[in-house]
Amino acid sequence: MNSPLLEVENLGRQFVARRSAFGRPTATVTAVDAVSFSLDAGTTLALVGESGCGKTTLGRLLLRLIDPTAGRICFDGQDVTTLKQSELTPLRRNAQLVFQDPYASLNPRMTIGQILAEPLGLHDVVPRSYRAERVRELLRLVGLEPRAARLYPHEFSGGQRQRIAIARALAVKPKLIVCDEPVSALDVSIRAQVLNLLRDLQRRFGLAYIFISHDLAVVRHVADRVAVMHLGRIVEIGKREAVFGNPRHPYTWALLSAIPVPAPGAKRERIILRGEMPSALHPPDGCAFHTRCPVAVARCRIERPELAGAVRTGAMREGDMHATACHRADELPPADIVSRHEGGSPILEQLVNAFRRRPDGQDGAGVDTLENTAEKTAEKPQ
Ligand SMILES: Nc1ncnc2c1ncn2[C@@H]1O[C@H](COP(=O)(O)OP(=O)(O)OP(=O)(O)O)[C@@H](O)[C@H]1O
Ligand code: SF4
Ligand SMILES: [Mg+2]
Repeated sequence: MNSPLLEVENLGRQFVARRSAFGRPTATVTAVDAVSFSLDAGTTLALVGESGCGKTTLGRLLLRLIDPTAGRICFDGQDVTTLKQSELTPLRRNAQLVFQDPYASLNPRMTIGQILAEPLGLHDVVPRSYRAERVRELLRLVGLEPRAARLYPHEFSGGQRQRIAIARALAVKPKLIVCDEPVSALDVSIRAQVLNLLRDLQRRFGLAYIFISHDLAVVRHVADRVAVMHLGRIVEIGKREAVFGNPRHPYTWALLSAIPVPAPGAKRERIILRGEMPSALHPPDGCAFHTRCPVAVARCRIERPELAGAVRTGAMREGDMHATACHRADELPPADIVSRHEGGSPILEQLVNAFRRRPDGQDGAGVDTLENTAEKTAEKPQ
């Protein structure tokens, strides 16, 4: 059996959130907390969870764009956790990032040809004499005409710019691409095209993707496995069919109940959770979800549940495992039975809406954070 392309063990990252007048840290946020998973070559792991749960931080940690404060990252058989910047060249070449706003990520003063040739020169991927041909080849790969090489980013639409960003990531022949909300800023009509392009490129080149998205409908389309994050931790991870078909964590129930139901007339009961959204600065003791969990018991307030599942599913490989961080995962009924809870909280309604929203790229980051949603709600005339 081949070893995974990426293995992550107990990965953590804290940020200083506040400092005293003398620069001493007075508050920290644990953006990523004890995260462990593995990713096989040629497969896609989606990271989902509400805004601020640590998806982007985790993606950047994996690429060593920021340093972890705990844990271990093993990429392609090599421990890259503590490598110095000067030693990271192989990782920089083999693991690339495509993020949400392709306009911000492309230098407006460079032609597309220069943008695509830059990484070729940096990593010495192809001989200088072959670079122009490689640029044309990259453009063809992402469905653009070779003449695009002479144009500037502003001369392209959002979808085309994201194709260019993908071509730039592909230039160095990576094994892994972290895609952070890669289609969230695009029109719905364009979104499917870019997703299909990513899928075709994956099949063709055996690429692995970490696919970060708020949009669970998109995740269902692209993911082999899904990891659900809550306040920096993975609370559920498993194959797409398992997580979507048999979600075991109450938080996953809430997220999934927010996906629009495509069939006309079909209804899905939305799970409304009580309680306030916890602050990342002061996460609750025990299970960090207990303040909103509709099925919490006394133990949940005291003891933090670990991610467990191998025994339950009988899976031998981590990649086949359906694991859940919930004390009650074994005893709870299937999600559709636990449907409606009276007295839901408006905060959770906002959470559900945040997952349901279709960002149109007009809202800056393209992500409707809970804070944004709350502000918009507050502004509405009663
Ligand atoms: N550079 C930083 N300094 C301080 N705190 C940070 C920093 N980067 C992230 N955080 C905090 O870490 C937590 C996780 O943030 P992150 O951006 O990873 O979340 P996310 O899941 O990607 O959210 P979104 O869906 O809105 O993109 C948040 O509480 C955020 O405020
Ligand atoms: S551990 Fe308790 S609070 Fe946490 S999700 Fe499970 S039942 Fe809910
Ligand atoms: Mg993010």
